[in-house]
Parts: sequence; structure tokens; C-alpha cells
Amino acid sequence: MIPQRPFACFPNPGQGIPGVVVLPEGGFRRAAAEIASWPGYAETPLLALPDVAAAAGVAAVHYKDEAGRFGLGSFKALGGAYAVARLLVAELARRGVAPAARVADLLAGAHAEATAAITVTCATDGNHGRSVAWGAQRFGARCVIFVHEHVSAGRRAAIAAYGAEIRVVPGHYDDAVREAAAVAAREGWFVVSDTSYPGYTEVPRDVMQGYRLMAREALAALPEPPTHVFVQGGVGGVAAAVSVQLRAQCPPGVRLVVVEPERAACLLASARAGAPVAVGGALDTLMAGLACGEPSLLAWQELERAAFAFMAVPDESAVDAMRLLARRAPRVVAGESAVAGLAGLLLAAGDAAARAALGLDAGSRVLLFGTEGATDPDLYARLVGALSP
Ligand SMILES: Cc1ncc(COP(=O)(O)O)c(C=O)c1O
Repeated sequence: MIPQRPFACFPNPGQGIPGVVVLPEGGFRRAAAEIASWPGYAETPLLALPDVAAAAGVAAVHYKDEAGRFGLGSFKALGGAYAVARLLVAELARRGVAPAARVADLLAGAHAEATAAITVTCATDGNHGRSVAWGAQRFGARCVIFVHEHVSAGRRAAIAAYGAEIRVVPGHYDDAVREAAAVAAREGWFVVSDTSYPGYTEVPRDVMQGYRLMAREALAALPEPPTHVFVQGGVGGVAAAVSVQLRAQCPPGVRLVVVEPERAACLLASARAGAPVAVGGALDTLMAGLACGEPSLLAWQELERAAFAFMAVPDESAVDAMRLLARRAPRVVAGESAVAGLAGLLLAAGDAAARAALGLDAGSRVLLFGTEGATDPDLYARLVGALSP
């Protein structure tokens, strides 16, 4: 169904070892209730892909299609925007403006003068920045987004459309992260990052609690619990959020496989090393949202004990998977960072050793998360063809 290409598959030796609670249930209940109350909230579709299941030699494949999430094109709408809302509420209390403002108050324009005096910022490859900018616009804050020079004009424009100021930083994603942090410290701005590190966990925890809503919707819509979940990894935030939600909603034993681009496989490298490690190099994968060299601390704390295996796949397989989804009927529009999980499933299914290592067989029920639509339409057109056939 897609050409077999070289890939890596590493069963996690740390799987099953008890660890810390990274995302407490109370925080998730709050996030889910909050986000579900926002104007424009709607569950995204869960698609059955029987043709893909047949090709993979498994019983069922379901694909949670996040292309339509809040009109932003990716699941990231659930995370950054929610963290912005939480941050503004906390900051209004700290400044003595409103001891217990509700997000609904902000949506209604209350405390507009005070929120406009608060600036939120982040570095982004695209989707997270779009979510933060959208949240800032909705909740009345000022927003400055740092992008590195390789972020496409289309992605920059999509962020600017939500009223954010865009600053372009020479170099790569990590350079943009450093610049955002330095300017924020100097100017008194608030960094809303989707990755966590020692001393910075509160905001990314909110981001990940927001992501869990995607997993809850998918698991509630499935006819039967999955046996396997394949999900793509950047810093690991979404994979960890899915992992926590699997534990909350499914019987034990669901196998979580985290799939990264081979040029940015920091989670797989960390699993091999037995500790979080950074991978170097240009991280020049086509899968822009997954081009991360260092795991998120919180995500790693969950995945090191809960992931069943880590995979790394080549860029060509992502393009194969995008085309496969685009050419089937009915068509599924998936961006290049949306399909690493699908590519991982098909490559593993076509390889006897990986199939056995992951326990994939004719009874397997697989859940995939299609985490974005065509968020860079020009790139999509180049890789797949015109969006409207
Ligand atoms: C479409 C898409 N999928 C997956 C991811 C990976 O998320 P994480 O960095 O939390 O692992 C990203 C990150 O930007 C993304 O944009």
C-alpha cells in the first residue's frame, strides 16, 4: 500500500515501570469542561479506514481527523490557546485586577484593558504559534510569535492572521526558542511553550491537558478499545497526553507506539539511552511539526514508562502516507506532520520482525491521530497535488 522503506523500531525496555503522575485528573476535567464550552467547539471526526486495515493485515484502523479543529487546521488548537486562557486568569488575579475571573468573562471582553497589557509569546514551527495567537486574540492579550527563517510564508501569514506580531529569527527552531525566552525575560512577557524543562512545567502541563480532549473524544467514539495506538512525536507532548488518556479510559495493555521522523528522533534516542537526550544535526525533516531535537521533560516522564515502542520513519514514507490518504475514497487531507503514525503502522505491518515485536496481527485494532490537515497548502500541493481535485 506504501513502499517498504528502512525504518527503526525499538521496543521500550522501561515500559511498565511505575512513575509519577504527570497530568492529574482534576486538571484534565477542568481543561475539558473549559474547552468544550468555547464557541466553535465541535468533536472532530473519527474515520474508519477499512482499506488501510486490510493492507496492514489488522482487524480495524481508525483515524481521528484533526484537520477541522476550531478552524485552525490542527489539534494544537486545544493546547496553546487553553494555556493562554489559564495564564491570563492567573495573571489578572496576581495583578489584583480580578481575583477569580472566568475564561467566559475574557471571551465577553471583560478586563480588556488589563489583558491587553499582557503579552504572550512563543517560538513555533507553525501550529503551536497559531494556537497561541488565536488564544491571545480570543482572550484579549497581545501576542508576539517567533519563527525561524525556514518557516514558510504561508505558515507565518496564518499566524499573523490572528493579530500576532511575527518576528523572524536566523537559524532553526532552537534559535527561535532561545530568542523568545531572552526577549520575554527582558520585556516581562509570558512564554507559552508546548515543551517543558526543569523549572518550567506549569504552562506545558496545561497545553498537554488540552490535548487529552482529542484522545478522550477518539476513545469514546471507538466501537471497541484499541489494541494499538500509533501517534507521532515531536517533543512528545501529544503522545504523552494520549498515553495518559489511554490509561484513564481503556483496559490495561493498549500498546502505544510513538513515531518520529528519522532526522529528529529524540524520543527514540532517549529510550535507547535510558534518559532524555538531545539529538543534534539540522533536524531538516519535512515533518515540520515534528522537527524537535529534545524531549519535553513532562512528556518523557510519561513515555519512558508507558510507551510500548518507539519508531523512526523516513520523510518519504510520510509523503507516501499523505498520498495514500489523498487518493483513497473518500479522500482524507493530511499534512506532513499528521501521518507519521500511519506510516509507522504500515511500515511495521509490512515487516515480519516489527510486526512480531509490536504484536500486530489479524485481531489488532489500531487507532491513529491525524494531527493536522493541509496547514501549509502550498507544500501540500507540491507533495500531493491540488487541494480541490
Ligand atoms: C501536526 C502536529 N502533529 C504532531 C506534533 C507533535 O506534538 P509534540 O511536539 O507535542 O510531540 C506537532 C507539533 O507541533 C504537530 O504540529
